[in-house]
Order: sequence, then C-alpha cells, then structure tokens
Amino acid sequence: MEQTDPTVLISEADIQARVVELAEQISQDYADREQLVLVGVLKGSFIFLADLSRRMTIPRVIEFIAVSSYGSGSQSSGAVRLVMDVRGNIENRHVLIVEDIVDTGHTLNYLIGMLESHKPASVKTCALVRKAERAEVDVDVDYLGFDIPDKWVVGYGLDYAEQNRTLPYIGTITPTD
Ligand code: PRP
Repeated sequence: MEQTDPTVLISEADIQARVVELAEQISQDYADREQLVLVGVLKGSFIFLADLSRRMTIPRVIEFIAVSSYGSGSQSSGAVRLVMDVRGNIENRHVLIVEDIVDTGHTLNYLIGMLESHKPASVKTCALVRKAERAEVDVDVDYLGFDIPDKWVVGYGLDYAEQNRTLPYIGTITPTD
C-alpha cells in the first residue's frame, strides 16, 4: 500500500530553535549544582536527548531507561512496564528525565516515582511535546518544548508502529489500524 508523507506539525527549524532555548534554560538552572544526570526514556527520546544534551553547557552524564506501554498500535493501555533501569547510581544526584512526548502522563508519572525510589537529590522532567487534552494523570513537566493537539504524531524520535522515527520534523499521520 502506498504511504503518504506525514503533514508537518513542527518544522525542523522550529524544533532546533526550541531545543537551544531549553538547553540554555536547563544550563542556567543547574549551573550551581553538581553534575546533572540526564535520563533518556527509550526509545522515543533518543534524538531529542542527543540534540538537547549537546547544546547544554553544564557538566552532564547520560543514562537511559526503557519502559513499554503502547505495544505497536496507537492506543495507550495506561499500564507501564519497566524494561531497563538506569545503569549508574543516581543516589544524591540531580536527575532530569528526558521524554519525547507526554500523552496520558502515565509513563512520566510512573518514572518519577520509580526514580525517586533511588533517592536522588532531585527529579525534574523535560519533554519535547505534550498532548494536554489527553492527560489522565496530573504530572509536572518542568521543561516543555511544545503543547500539541491530540493527533497522532511521528518523527524526531516518535514512531507509529516503529515507522518514521528518524524524520527531522514532527508530523501528523492518520493511523490505519
Ligand atoms: C511513548 C513516549 C512516552 C509515552 C508517553 O512511548 O515515548 O514514553 O509513550 O505516553 P503516556 O504519557 O500516555 O504514558 P512508547 O510506549 O510509544 O515507546 P517508544 O518510546 O519506544 O516508542
């Protein structure tokens, strides 16, 4: 079946400009603290984390965590499963969770609680996009790129059934299942 290209929602230039702003803000906020631990949530955050972390000007290290919630379709079940924990010790360290998208909020809500159980000095959150209309739990996003409408989005790390993750922009598609 022929696939149409996603419709651009946030252009590559707009994403890159916002990433620079977020990196500058985070660098200012953490300037007087110990090394920041950036925790990327696989898989979706890998591109955002790569760009964001390279624009920061403070001491920082990278960790990854993996969770699973959606399966391969377009519906969230609300259940979050930990697939891989952070490798390094984050006790007494400042942690910033980096997500591509906050949809229902269940994943970020779960991750905050899970990482807090490691007794870090602080846990804050950063997400490139958020679908405010879809929120099912109240979760703070300390650093947010964009609020977006409730459409299926792909690109810049976001996928639909593993497709379109590597697009440089964020686009909307109409799921077929
Ligand atoms: C996406 C996204 C978030 C989560 C947000 O991950 O990366 O982790 O869903 O949804 P929520 O706010 O409704 O919990 P997904 O499960 O699609 O995995 P992926 O990052 O590997 O694509």
